[in-house]
Parts: sequence; structure tokens; C-alpha cells
Amino acid sequence: MKIHHFETLDSTNDQLLKMAEGGAPEWTVVVADRQTSGRGRRRRDWWSPEGNLYMSILLRPDVTPRQLLRLPVIASLAFLSAMGESGASLTVKWPNDILLEGRKMAGILAESRSEGERVLWAVVGFGVNMIRPGDDIPIGLKNRLAFTYELEEGLEPDELASRIARGMKAWSGAMNEDGWSKAREEWSRRALLNTTYVYRDGGRDIEGVPVRLDESGGLVMETKNGEVTVYSGELENPIQNSKFKIQDKPQ
Ligand code: BTN
Repeated sequence: MKIHHFETLDSTNDQLLKMAEGGAPEWTVVVADRQTSGRGRRRRDWWSPEGNLYMSILLRPDVTPRQLLRLPVIASLAFLSAMGESGASLTVKWPNDILLEGRKMAGILAESRSEGERVLWAVVGFGVNMIRPGDDIPIGLKNRLAFTYELEEGLEPDELASRIARGMKAWSGAMNEDGWSKAREEWSRRALLNTTYVYRDGGRDIEGVPVRLDESGGLVMETKNGEVTVYSGELENPIQNSKFKIQDKPQ
């Protein structure tokens, strides 16, 4: 595994996408001290000051494009294993958030290119909050973020990067059929299931409770109209006084 370390990049994902197109081998890793155009899902900016971890890993998995939905799930498990015992209270929110008491500690951005049914490459990027933020933290993020020092004092970005890379290697077999059921089980154990969310994807709003992952990594939700499986979009903040409870479902 070769780790390329940069001081400043626009985005570690963008850098690695270019390297992937240029033929870089699987398990090439890019880390940057800071990003000038860090990207989150849904074209959001990713706050990227020095002191946090920005890391991307290249895979060339032997799966179908649809099975790539498994990647953020596996990446979440890799992050949890990287935090070990100290991360026992962390939970995962489909498809890509790692939360501590509802605040976001890490985000995962998976991107890929396929030709027909063949996946050429997949890049999985991790942004992990590690620093003690100062006054420069954007107003909208205050109170919404969690930091690794809350769980493990003194953890450095480079050490966390090696642990995540090891975790990804350990879990990568779960992209294929044999390991996937174990990954699904482990994910469910750590996921925020049994909480009602609004699922948003473009114009669609669905209120329901996430219950499990399907074969490809899509999320099965229990709604008042029965089970609905979603493959993109995301879950908005949990609903405190939801009208829909899983018990409402006709037996
Ligand atoms: C999200 O939660 O929306 C995903 C955030 C992913 C951020 C990481 S930081 C390293 C890599 N490079 C990027 O530009 N984005 C990802």
C-alpha cells in the first residue's frame, strides 16, 4: 500500500481520481494536511482546515456497479475498526455518516467509474474531524460536529490514516458475496436503526424507520405503506415526535 502525502490539495478524492484514470494500482492512498475544495456528498463543501484527516483510497473491486453501494458501508466499518474500543459509542447513519451522540465525526465520499457492468475504479474518501476547533469554525457547523479527541486524546491524522487503510483491507473482502452478509450484520449492529427519519431524494420525502441493508447496500425502510428500499439520497435528522412508529404497521 503506497501512501502519497501532500500538504495542500484541492481535494484528495480529485487527486486520486486523476491517478486512478492514469492507471494507479489498487490500494494507492492519498492524504493531505488541508484541502482547498474539499467535497462532501450532494456537492456540499467539506470544511478542510489543517489538523483533520483527509484521505482517499483507490480500489478496483470485482463487483457490479450496483454493488458499489456496499463501499460506503464497508468504509464505515473500516472507520469503526480504526477507532477500536474507544469508538464503541460511535454509530453509523446510512449511507455515510459516523456519529457520536448525533454529531458527525466523519464523512465518507465514494466515487467510481464503470464501463457497462465492469467497475474500473472506486475511490473512497474519508474526512475526519480531529482538531479542537477555534473561532474559525463555520457557524452552521458549530454543535453539529464531533471530534476524535473526545474519544481518544492525542490521536494523530497519520496514525488514524494507517488504521483506516488497514481496516479497509480487512473489510474489502466483504465487497464480494461471501463477506457481505457478515458486513451487513456488523453494520446493523452499529447503525441507527429503529429511529424515524425523513428520507430525501430530490422531490421525494419518505418518513420511515431504517430496518436493514439489502443485497446491494440499499437501505430498506419500514414506512406506513410497507417496506421501501432506497439507493441514493439521504436521511435527514431524526424526527423526535414522529407520527409514524414501526408499531403502526399493520401486522
Ligand atoms: C460527506 O459526509 O458528505 C462526505 C464527506 C467526505 C469528505 C472527504 S475529505 C477527503 C475526501 N476528499 C474530498 O474532497 N472529500 C472526501
